[in-house]
Order: sequence, then structure tokens, then C-alpha cells
Amino acid sequence: MPGIVLVGAQWGDEGKGKITDLIADDFDYVVRYQGGNNAGHTVIHGDKRLALHLIPSGIMYPNITPLIGNGCVIDPRVLIEEMDKLEAENFSTERLLISGNAHLIMPWHLALDAESERRLGNNEIGTTKRGIGPAYQDKAARSGIRIQDLLDEHIFRLKVQTALVEKNEILVKIYNSKPFDANAVCAEYLSYAERIKPHITESSQLLNEVLRENKWVLFEGAQGTLLDLDHGTYPFVTSSSCTAGGAVVGSGVGPTTINKVLGIAKAYITRVGSGPFPTELNDETGLKLSSVGGEVGVTTGRARRCGWYDAVIVKYAAEVNGLTDLCITKLDVLSCLDRIKVCTAYEHEGRRYRTVPGSQSAFHHATPIYEELPGWKTDITACRNYSDLPREAKDYIEFIEDLAGVPVSIIAVGPDRDQTIMRRWRPRS
Ligand code: GDP
Ligand code: IMO
Ligand code: MG
Repeated sequence: MPGIVLVGAQWGDEGKGKITDLIADDFDYVVRYQGGNNAGHTVIHGDKRLALHLIPSGIMYPNITPLIGNGCVIDPRVLIEEMDKLEAENFSTERLLISGNAHLIMPWHLALDAESERRLGNNEIGTTKRGIGPAYQDKAARSGIRIQDLLDEHIFRLKVQTALVEKNEILVKIYNSKPFDANAVCAEYLSYAERIKPHITESSQLLNEVLRENKWVLFEGAQGTLLDLDHGTYPFVTSSSCTAGGAVVGSGVGPTTINKVLGIAKAYITRVGSGPFPTELNDETGLKLSSVGGEVGVTTGRARRCGWYDAVIVKYAAEVNGLTDLCITKLDVLSCLDRIKVCTAYEHEGRRYRTVPGSQSAFHHATPIYEELPGWKTDITACRNYSDLPREAKDYIEFIEDLAGVPVSIIAVGPDRDQTIMRRWRPRS
């Protein structure tokens, strides 16, 4: 079947934007199925460098229809800003489709995100403060406001008024913060409605139709496996299903429509925000990876924590997502190192783990077991074929491929589109 899921195999920022843009040309639709503008996907398309937060990374291709699925949460102000930026770069956003069932991020979600993080103090999750968690909370509580509510002013006003009765009490009485005025919120959001209305669609129905017509659909994941609400390092996760299963729930197609699942992993690993990180490097090597890899968050500008490639995590990602292919990005960044470590297992209280331990305490206190491989210390950014890579780089790829049990089909050796080795990526086979 012609559906392919692209998913982050680590803690996000694996280079999903670059790879989506790279392979998108083969597809008719590119669909975001979860998350919101907590995502920051960098796409370098020709001479243009774009940071996309909400709009699928296929937007630059006139032959592709980009779609924001029902599993997403949408801040309409950010959406319109992003559309304007793309239009200013001469990328038309006319084809953009938005599910009427996607939930709206309301101003109080941003306020509650900030307040609850402030309250947690040292135990904060380190969220992007974009209102993601509170918006999904309301969705699960069945009190959320959806994109389709923008189509009916009367309903929209009623929902805002109802929500604010509770939210203002929480903001004022619990957080000692300012209340929101329902009329002002309605005026702001109903002004966005005019712009968004032409893009709203019944997306599940549409996607099922196009899949039946054998059109190709790429489901573009945001965040990463270890940030998944169910399968990640809870509670230091985001509030949506970033794993491949989320693609079907978040867009309204059946699992039998999925042909392949491509996992994206960096040749090392990074994390933004709080939470356990067994292979984190708080030393010179960590600083080197950070500066050579340019590891600064696209959404919040925060420094990303860096560490050695963790094969336990990628093996786990292979299982929970059912990966058929792996793409390793940023291999070029490792060219600066004499020796490279790979975490092959964890140890905790005398027990050895080859997959992510079920117990959060074991994961928090896990000691990584490393294998050391020689570096290649050569610039590989001009390599375009697997055979162009130095022996040590190929050994590295084959070592992590064996540990993941999934073929490494794509290797990225630089941020540009063409700085890529298509080793064995065959989406249609
Ligand atoms: P995403 O959230 O998964 O889309 O990833 P981000 O865009 O947040 O972060 C990935 C960063 O790495 C971006 O700055 C990309 O331009 C860059 N990048 C992607 N692939 C490569 C690569 O192979 N080598 C290098 N040096 N940079 C890369
Ligand atoms: P992309 O799609 C990296 C992290 C935040 C925080 C946690 C919860 O660019 O890979 P949230 O605001 O979602 O409630 O924050 O998740 N986080 C990301 N980290 N890349 C992302 O997206 C992220 N989106 C959220 O830093 O630790
Ligand atoms: Mg990112």
C-alpha cells in the first residue's frame, strides 16, 4: 500500500525535515499527524533555509498536497505566521489542507504550560511552552476546541465562554495569574478563522480516497520515539503519539495502508529539555559535537544536550515503530573525532539491558556499556555513494545497522539536500 511513515528514532531533531524534503518528491501528499509548533524542522531547499514548525515539510513542492492531520494541535496565530513566511519566500500555501478535527491551541494553553512549568521548578519537563500539553489535556478531557469550531461563530463563542469559566479560575486562584477575556479571545480567533477556513477539510475521508487511487502519502512524524507519550521517557515526553502508530490514529487511515516505516537517527544523539539521558556527554567531546553539529533548538533556541549514539534506544525504536529502514544523519559531524563510542547495552544493579528498561528508575540510573570504534578524520561531506565513504565510516554504519537489526538505507553527510547517500532506499518495493 502507498503509505510511508517517517519517524524520529531518538529524542527529536534527528533531521526529519531534511529527509522529508529529500524524499517528498516521490509522494502526492505529505501529512503531519501529531504535535504542533513544538516541532522545528529545518529544510534547506535550493538556496533557501526554512524552519517549519507546523506545516508539513513537503510544502515546497508544487506537486505535493501538504496536510495537517486530526492528531495535531494548531496555534492559528503561528500557522498564519508560517504561511506568510512561506508566501514571502514564494512558496504557495494555497494547497495546504487542515483537518477540521485537529484541536486548537488557545491562549490559556500557553499560559498554563508556562505556569505549570514554573510550579514544577527544578522538576520541570523543559517544554517548549507552546501550549502543547494543556491542549492535548483538553482534547483527552473532551473539552477541547477544534478547528471546525471556527466555522460556526455561535458555537465557537459558546465553547470559549464555557472553557474560560474553568480556565480563568485555575489561572487566577491556583497560579495567581491573569484571566482571559472571552470577547477578546473570540475577536482574535475569529479573525484567524477567515484565513484558515478555505483550508479546512475532512482529511480522513480524503486520505482514504487518495490511497485507494494508489497515490503516495508520506506521514511526517514530529518529535521522536523517546518523546512519545506512551513509549517515551515519561513524564519527560511530549503529549502526543510520535511513534508510527500515531500516523494512523492522527490521520484516520488504517494500518494496512502503511508500506514502510523509515526511522531517522543522528549518528550521535541529542535531547532538548529535561529527563534521563544515559549517554550524555558533559565534557569536551559533548561540546565538540554541539559546536560542530550546530546543536541549537530550532523552536526555542535552547542548547541541545549531546551524547554518544545509543544503539539500545534505536533498537527499541525499531521495535515500537516497526522500522523497515533506517536513515543515519549527521555522519559528517563525527569526522572531528579520533575515536567514537557506541552504547550497546546498559547495566543497572548487576543486570544487563539490551533494550530500554521498563522501569524508569533503571533507565535513570543506567550505566552505558560502550564499544569504541576508530574515527575516520576525513571530510566526508562530498561523498555521494556508499563506496566513497572511508572504511572506518562504513564500519561504523554497519556496526550500528547490525545492532538495530534494520538496514541503513539513507545516510546524510551534510545539511544540504544533495549531501546524502541513497544506499538502498526503495519506497515502492
Ligand atoms: P528535525 O526536527 O528532525 O527536522 O531536525 P532539526 O531541523 O531540528 O535539526 C537537524 C539539524 O541538522 C538541522 O539544522 C539540519 O539542517 C541539520 N542536518 C540535517 N542532516 C544533517 C547532516 O547530515 N549533517 C549536518 N551537518 N547537518 C544536518
Ligand atoms: P522536532 O519535531 C526536540 C521536547 C521539549 C520537552 C518535551 C515536552 O523538531 O524533533 P512540549 O512542548 O512538547 O510539551 O515539550 O519535548 N520537544 C522536542 N525536542 N525536538 C522536538 O521536535 C521537540 N518537541 C518537543 O524540549 O523536553
Ligand atoms: Mg527539530
